[in-house]
Amino acid sequence: MSWLNGAKRSLLRRTRTPESPFRPDISGRRNQVAKTGTALKLAGVAGLMAFQVAMSGQAPTSLKDAYQGCFLVGAALNPAQFSGKDAREAALVKAQFNSISPENILKWEVVHPKPDTYNFALADQYVDFGLKNHMFIIGHTLVWHSQTPKWVFEDEQGNPLSRTSLLKRLHDHIQTVVGRYKGKVNAWDVVNEALNEDGTLRQSPWMKIIGEDYIEKAFEYVHEADPQAQLNYNDYSLENDAKRKGALKLVEALKAKGVPINGVGLQDHVHMDWPTLNEIDTTISEFGKLGMKVMITELDVDVLPQVTSSQTADVSLNVAADPKLNPYPNGLPDSVQQALAKRYGDLFATYAKHCGVVTRVTLWGVTDKNSWKNDWPVKGRTSYPLLFDRSGQPKPAFNAVIEAAPKKVSSISGLF
Ligand code: G3I
Repeated sequence: MSWLNGAKRSLLRRTRTPESPFRPDISGRRNQVAKTGTALKLAGVAGLMAFQVAMSGQAPTSLKDAYQGCFLVGAALNPAQFSGKDAREAALVKAQFNSISPENILKWEVVHPKPDTYNFALADQYVDFGLKNHMFIIGHTLVWHSQTPKWVFEDEQGNPLSRTSLLKRLHDHIQTVVGRYKGKVNAWDVVNEALNEDGTLRQSPWMKIIGEDYIEKAFEYVHEADPQAQLNYNDYSLENDAKRKGALKLVEALKAKGVPINGVGLQDHVHMDWPTLNEIDTTISEFGKLGMKVMITELDVDVLPQVTSSQTADVSLNVAADPKLNPYPNGLPDSVQQALAKRYGDLFATYAKHCGVVTRVTLWGVTDKNSWKNDWPVKGRTSYPLLFDRSGQPKPAFNAVIEAAPKKVSSISGLF
């Protein structure tokens, strides 16, 4: 297959049809360079230099341009970023990314805290930010055992809800939330983290009350609310053998029943030595063989000491603070910085081997300053998991990611 045909297919693939529910805004992308110029005024000297290099015809120096034609590059945003309150980070997002995810504001407890109360103010702002900046907008997440209020699973007397009532509640929630953003949010993490580490289904309240068909029901309800949206299953540690096998089995079963699932999100909250590149490679290939698109949905890299032998990203884990667990409070030693850069370069090179199957790589945050990793699994650590440092400057890892981009893809970025 010639590479150019691959690139054209990639563009077509991102045309949003029921079969291939991606919806690029190509006109917006053409205007992006002009808009990027404005954004960079706020993004600081490093960003401006990057823009000048890009305009002089040299290698692209934004993440989204470097991987144009291969996959989208996204970031998870907090309200200060998409409201523009943090102008510097908002500018950085506009300059570097062409997809956004909401770090917290579309979770059930935020958007639907009480039975008759929906809070859409932040979600509306988030979606508007994405639309204005011609970005691929992700909805995260509709069905999760975490960050879902207790009342969701109980009747007015506090007794467990019946299967029928919980399904109705789920249907109403999805109709209201997905329906509001129909045609605007491009892709949904429909079900999040439904699997245990051994690949069996987690005994969440959804599972206990509804049974294992809660997963297919959720996908069907979202498809009903927005038939054009891309629908994904999202989880962590899918590179581990047992969990990956469980996820493959789940996807196969959903496909066999005709459930409208388009892709699988590998969260990739990774460490320096886990998972191996080979495990990532295999995982992407295996889901690709089932006809799934693969998205890297929550990428960050942890250089701090590990506090558990498992590779969980379970938010309920909480380990007591200890100075030994926080070895770099005043900055990363150069050797660690370089090792992190190498790890990031290797990861992106591995993802880019699968251009077309991997359609998006999203970082879980923008700068190290606001990453959840500063508070998990140990509160108050100084973590360095992302591509931009605490003041928004690109780290050596950023350069390594740009350098890892497929050169031919970069060279025709003007087509997109
Ligand atoms: O907004 C409140 C604030 O009012 C309050 O003062 C403060 C006190 O702790 O808490 C704030 O809420 C926090 C929220 O993030 C916003 O910052 C919650 O305590 C905290 O638990 C929550 O953590 C989020 C976590 O999911 C749980 O929802 C992280 O930011 C977010 O990065 C993380 O994201 C998850 C993905 O959704 C799913 N995959 C794993 C990933 C990492 O855990």
